[in-house]
Amino acid sequence: MDNRTVAIICHGGAGTITEKEDYARGLSEAIEEGYRLLRQGAPALEAVLRAVVMLEDNPVFNAGTGSSLTIDEVAEMDAGIMTQHGRFGGVICIRNVKNPVLVAEKVMTETDHLILAGDGAIRFARSMGFEDYNPVTEKAKRRLMELRQNGSKFFPRLNQRLGITEQKSGTVGAVAIDRNGNIVAATSSGGIAGRMTGRVGDSGIPGAGVFASPAGGVSCTGHGEEILRMLLARDIGERRKTLPAQTAVTLALSEAKRKKVLCGAIAIDARGGIGYGYTSPDMAYGYKAADRLFLFTDSRK
Ligand code: GLY
Repeated sequence: MDNRTVAIICHGGAGTITEKEDYARGLSEAIEEGYRLLRQGAPALEAVLRAVVMLEDNPVFNAGTGSSLTIDEVAEMDAGIMTQHGRFGGVICIRNVKNPVLVAEKVMTETDHLILAGDGAIRFARSMGFEDYNPVTEKAKRRLMELRQNGSKFFPRLNQRLGITEQKSGTVGAVAIDRNGNIVAATSSGGIAGRMTGRVGDSGIPGAGVFASPAGGVSCTGHGEEILRMLLARDIGERRKTLPAQTAVTLALSEAKRKKVLCGAIAIDARGGIGYGYTSPDMAYGYKAADRLFLFTDSRK
């Protein structure tokens, strides 16, 4: 085992964050746990899964428990995980499971496929022993009701029809590098509140909401339709072939800003360099490297 520096970065979504302390607490718990595993010699895959599961289980975040609801009040969730060797697993529009990221990992390790969607994804989850679970919270129901009264930027046609005027996006993600230099990225999302049932976001799509290659790993958050159009994670991954993670993220996000896309991204490069950025008013993020924890509440943009 060599002595490369381990590192982990997590996000809890881009947007307007009102409960900053709750987000910071949830992130720091997930980051500390992922980092502890990495320091003990655990593979990046284990650290990333653990961190994302902790974020999915925390109802503060829009993933797993507490996921946003569709217009039909259904929690359909997307998740994806990718290793630097190009292994990928994803689930799209999965319902009634506690941890979509764990099902995505099983798609990667136990099937011949990359992505499973809808009923097939649920059937597969059950066959792997994932129990029936209701991730819908009262807060998510209230948020959908508020949307119906207040207002929207993401889905203007749908919202005009339904009288919705504002949506909250949010997602969680983690990227880690272990002491053997292995890099893994994962993203999990409850989608955008008030979307159509069956809508596919970016989080479970390789190259859009999540990407990894020998050059590093990326997890994205924000307006899924636009992230899909830009293939944002892949864009950052391509730039990172020749640039450090921070420069790659900054350049890709300045392009996103020019196009008025609300999004954010976190990344780690093959040297363990950290990158993050966002075009939205806020992004909840934090990282730990060289035994130092940094949280988004430690400094303002
Ligand atoms: N970025 C999460 C979504 O749009 O579904």
